[in-house]
Amino acid sequence: MTKANKLPAEAPADCDLCSRLVSYRSKNRLEHPGWFNGAVPSFGDENARLLIVGLAPGVSGANKTGRPFTGDWAGDLLYATINKFGFSSGEYAANPNDGLELKDAMITNAVRCVPPANKPVGSEVNTCREYLKARIAALKNLRIILCLGKISHDSTCRALDMKVKEHPFGHGTEYNAPNGLIVISSYHCSRYNTNTGRLTTEMFEDVFGRARELMEAVSA
Ligand code: URA
Repeated sequence: MTKANKLPAEAPADCDLCSRLVSYRSKNRLEHPGWFNGAVPSFGDENARLLIVGLAPGVSGANKTGRPFTGDWAGDLLYATINKFGFSSGEYAANPNDGLELKDAMITNAVRCVPPANKPVGSEVNTCREYLKARIAALKNLRIILCLGKISHDSTCRALDMKVKEHPFGHGTEYNAPNGLIVISSYHCSRYNTNTGRLTTEMFEDVFGRARELMEAVSA
C-alpha cells in the first residue's frame, strides 16, 4: 500500500503528500502569513447530485481565501453560472464569509494544493486523485460530474476506472461511467480561455444547462 491509499474525502490543510507543493506552501506562508495557504477543502452540499471538479487553487484566489475558485478570476464566471442554473443561494462576493451556499452541488479540485505557475505535475494529480475518489464515493446522491479542463477530466476518468484514450476530453463531451455516473466536461473557465474566446459565457452555460437537464432526467 502506498502512502496515498485510502485517503479521506478531504485533505488536511497541511497535507504533506507532494513535496513540491509543500515547499511552495512554505514559501507562500512566509510571504503571505495571513493567507489560507493549505489544501483547499471542497465546498458545497454533502447531498449534491452535481460535483464540479476544477484544476487546482489559484495562488492569490482559493489559496488565499480557502474556498475553491473564491477570489480567482475563474470564480466570477463559475459562481455566476452556478447561480444562473439554480445551484446556489446568496451572493458570491469573492470572500468565504459572503454567505453563499451551494444547493445540490459541490465544487472540488483535482489537486487540492496550489501548484507553482498553476501547473500541477502528473505525480501530484495522481496522488491527489485518492482524495477525489474518496470525495466522489462520499457523495451518496451524486449523478453528474462536471469537469473543468482536461486535467480535471482525465483525473476524473481515471478515478472512475475509465480509460482516458477511450474517453477523450473535449468541450461538451459526455460519458457514462461504469458506476452509473455521467461525466460531462467543459473548457476550464480560466482567464486565458475566456480572454482568448476559446470559452464564451454561452458555451459555459450550455454545459451547465446540459448538466442540469441530465441531472433531472437521471433523477426522475
Ligand atoms: N480556482 C480553483 O479553486 N480551481 C481552479 O481550477 C481554478 C481556480
